[in-house]
Amino acid sequence: MTPIRLAVVGATGLVGRTTLDILEEWNVPLESLRLFASEESRGKSVPFRGRKIAVERLERVPDGVNAAILATSRAISRRWVPAFRECGVTVIDHSSEFRMHADVPLVIPEVNGHTLRDHRGAVANPNCSASIVVIPLAALARIAEMKTAVVDTYQSVSGSGQDALAEFENELADASYSPRVFPRVIAHNVFPQIGVFNDVGPCDEEQKVVQELQKMLELPQLHILTTTVRVPVRIGHSAALSVELARDVRIDEAEAALSAMPGMVYERTTYRTPREIAGRQEVFVSRLRKSPHDPHWLQFWVTGDNLRKGAASNAVQILMELFGVMMP
Ligand SMILES: NC(=O)c1ccc[n+]([C@@H]2O[C@H](COP(=O)([O-])OP(=O)(O)OC[C@H]3O[C@@H](n4cnc5c(N)ncnc54)[C@H](OP(=O)(O)O)[C@@H]3O)[C@@H](O)[C@H]2O)c1
Repeated sequence: MTPIRLAVVGATGLVGRTTLDILEEWNVPLESLRLFASEESRGKSVPFRGRKIAVERLERVPDGVNAAILATSRAISRRWVPAFRECGVTVIDHSSEFRMHADVPLVIPEVNGHTLRDHRGAVANPNCSASIVVIPLAALARIAEMKTAVVDTYQSVSGSGQDALAEFENELADASYSPRVFPRVIAHNVFPQIGVFNDVGPCDEEQKVVQELQKMLELPQLHILTTTVRVPVRIGHSAALSVELARDVRIDEAEAALSAMPGMVYERTTYRTPREIAGRQEVFVSRLRKSPHDPHWLQFWVTGDNLRKGAASNAVQILMELFGVMMP
């Protein structure tokens, strides 16, 4: 095991704070830990393992670190991922900036952990809904050729960061509050838009889900149809999936594949809601059924914590694999 000397950039945000929680919960061995955030956090300190760590401003690649988790914006990643790499620091990046770069593995360890071998100093953590739905999709793609996946997501407010969560709380408290982060009021509402729309119709998030699933599943031609919907839930993304397989897969065969898949829990007799699974590391899959009209189609429901498996805990898993640390 190589000693880990870690920098977390964006340590005061939702993903950054969840990262610190997981490092503590899993007792990940760290030789040193430095925390970075924006100018607004100057003077703050963050509790970690019984002591307080000062939050610093990122002005240059910090001396002595050999790993960095970046949980900030695309613009910051665009600037700092290459700088860290040039200094020999291995970066795990949460932004979408490098996810589709051919030389940057996009990794859910249970699905395509083997691609970590090819990293050249940078690994991308996938989009929060792609991270959650790819696990059951990979389980099914291992037993039958997948032809089509229809992925309709129900994404929580925390998926857009701490300002979005604050906006949601303000709207709940004050019906006249005008949204600044989201395009519409999210309190007591849903809307089929996450990110901006492109010229041909999909919004950013829909494009990311399609491209990232194709990359992680190593199925570049997979036909994926998606609608991404924001819902008034604090934490936890869900999705309703319909999958067309090339052959008639029996339900018990699909159940065996889903039950054997690491990183997820398959449940036959109940289903989970985001409220019930917030804070859990695993992804929960349920309501598996077959189309009555075409035996090649399966449908199911999946829900997972966007801040954990959708972001922070997946990145910590990657860190541990890269540095040869055993999972707890
Ligand atoms: N939220 C999710 O469920 C989720 C899931 C997957 C991926 N992601 C991705 O993870 C990243 C972080 O998301 P988040 O939800 O944690 O966002 P967030 O809650 O808005 O946190 C953003 C963090 O970035 C810091 N920051 C802003 N400007 C900075 C600067 N110039 N230098 C250093 N740090 C700076 C902020 O510091 P201050 O507190 O000082 O402003 C804060 O710590 C984004 O790229 C997002 O797309 C998020």
